[in-house]
Amino acid sequence: MSPPARLVVATRNEHKLRELREILAGVELVALDPEVELPPETGATFTENALIKARAARAATGEAAIADDSGIAAAALDGAPGVRSARFAGPRASDEENLWLLIDSLAARRDRRVAYVCVIAHLDEAGAERTYEGRCEGTLIAEPRGSGGFGYDPAFVPLDTGPDDERTMAELSAADKHAISHRGRAARELARALGLDPGAGAPGSGHSGPPSGARGRR
Ligand code: IMP
Repeated sequence: MSPPARLVVATRNEHKLRELREILAGVELVALDPEVELPPETGATFTENALIKARAARAATGEAAIADDSGIAAAALDGAPGVRSARFAGPRASDEENLWLLIDSLAARRDRRVAYVCVIAHLDEAGAERTYEGRCEGTLIAEPRGSGGFGYDPAFVPLDTGPDDERTMAELSAADKHAISHRGRAARELARALGLDPGAGAPGSGHSGPPSGARGRR
């Protein structure tokens, strides 16, 4: 398969778009026209929501499209906030409000385990659908630190940096975050499937991580 020259990205989240551009450096990623309305994310899973957004972008443009649906799942909260991560503290909640609600929700809990999950859905020009999943395990701390990344990053200490490294995702460089993040892992699976260079920091080039999965839809 020859790699695509460009992909439309179905997102309104500038942070995600920036990270996807940093990770998928070999392809032009074009933000979906703001005039195109994205359908509500009514899916019960990251996969369903990623497909809802990617289908809408392809339907509106006729071009190959991708969409990322992602979030954080706390073990002590049975996986919440999960698909509701962007609106955990309410429909118009800021990243900071969502972060503090999660910190408060875990305040009395001993189980601090959290996981970032990202599913990227890809629709090619003909409409064939595939999804790619990446995970990143970590623990949630009570006092946020760092100014990098976005969302829950200032309170998320990843396991992949090792037991002696207490830096949060927001204290890592962008490249170090992408090497271990849920989005980095899912995007590199996509890159490999499309014949793109999966980029520095990819598993197999020095870093490795838990398995990510690709699933074909048709
Ligand atoms: P979505 O737009 O429904 O996929 O919402 C994703 C939400 O999950 C974001 O708004 C963040 O709250 C959270 N999230 C996803 N990925 C990250 C990340 O890499 N760092 C921090 N928070 C994230």
